[in-house]
Amino acid sequence: MKDLIFDRHRRLRKTPALRSMVKETSLSAKDFVYPVFVVEGHHIKKEVSSMPGVYQYSIDRLHEELDEVTALGIPSIMVFGIPDYKDAEGTMAYHDHGIVQKAIRYIKEKYPDLIVVADTCLCEYTDHGHCGIIHNGDVENDESLAVLAKTAVSQAEAGADIIAPSNMMDGFVTAIRHGLDEAGFKDIPIMSYAIKYASAFYGPFREAAEGAPQFGDRKTYQMDPGNRREALREAQSDLNEGADFLIVKPALSYLDIIRDVRNRFDLPVVAYNVSGEYAMIKAACQNGWLDEKAAVIEKLMSMKRAGADIIITYHAKDAVRWMKE
Ligand code: PBG
Repeated sequence: MKDLIFDRHRRLRKTPALRSMVKETSLSAKDFVYPVFVVEGHHIKKEVSSMPGVYQYSIDRLHEELDEVTALGIPSIMVFGIPDYKDAEGTMAYHDHGIVQKAIRYIKEKYPDLIVVADTCLCEYTDHGHCGIIHNGDVENDESLAVLAKTAVSQAEAGADIIAPSNMMDGFVTAIRHGLDEAGFKDIPIMSYAIKYASAFYGPFREAAEGAPQFGDRKTYQMDPGNRREALREAQSDLNEGADFLIVKPALSYLDIIRDVRNRFDLPVVAYNVSGEYAMIKAACQNGWLDEKAAVIEKLMSMKRAGADIIITYHAKDAVRWMKE
């Protein structure tokens, strides 16, 4: 044995203190954005059946959620609205009294320090459930841009701190940036869903936000899961158009893409740990097949390690509680 040369990696794993000293990646409450679903109506707190622990709230009960979020030190939420009226153009997406606009006004009045990110899309507001305006059975790109810009401006007027367009139309960052600037919101950043795949992992969200497409799918605007180089082209476009953050979505099956984007671009990189990724863990844990606490922390850590600066995740509240233990 004396002459054998090999590395003793275990030296640095000997005690919890040593392991902590050499830990390369850390998680903190500040890393998280917590998604919140707001519905029209009163006295509503309704659990999303495919997302145990996630609820739709009416505005009058939203404080139950937000008191918890702020007490845990989570700095930011992402707001999704579920309207009580839908039409072909998604007019309630940009209506001054739309559910998101009302919710944001309420939140910013009661929780002025909470960073409110508005998801800018039409699928929750259109009767066909697509993310833009339909012509001849497909989403018409350029016509949708005007509606998206209008939606972003209405969200900024309500008090949104960050606009997060998730619709995957070409040129949406340019259109929204122009719209915001013209309306006097030059300082409102755009957190672009730059890289969004046509993923099976959005299923539970479509129950939560009631925005499933009523015909066809989103493959003419969301990306093919097999494509890696295309992700960099998408990110480059959004950077050129003035995006301030780049989102990669989903996260868990796309850690390679998060790393590619981190290596190539210097903007803050955001991983969206989507509904299906949450549901998988919850289901396995309800069956007793996984240790939820350990699995969730490991999963979120992997996204940071891959290169994400920020994680949008339904696990945020639990994760912060567990990190404090
Ligand atoms: C709206 C939007 C979706 C998600 C976020 N914004 C749904 C979709 O594109 O189908 C999915 C989020 C999740 O699954 O957690 N376009």
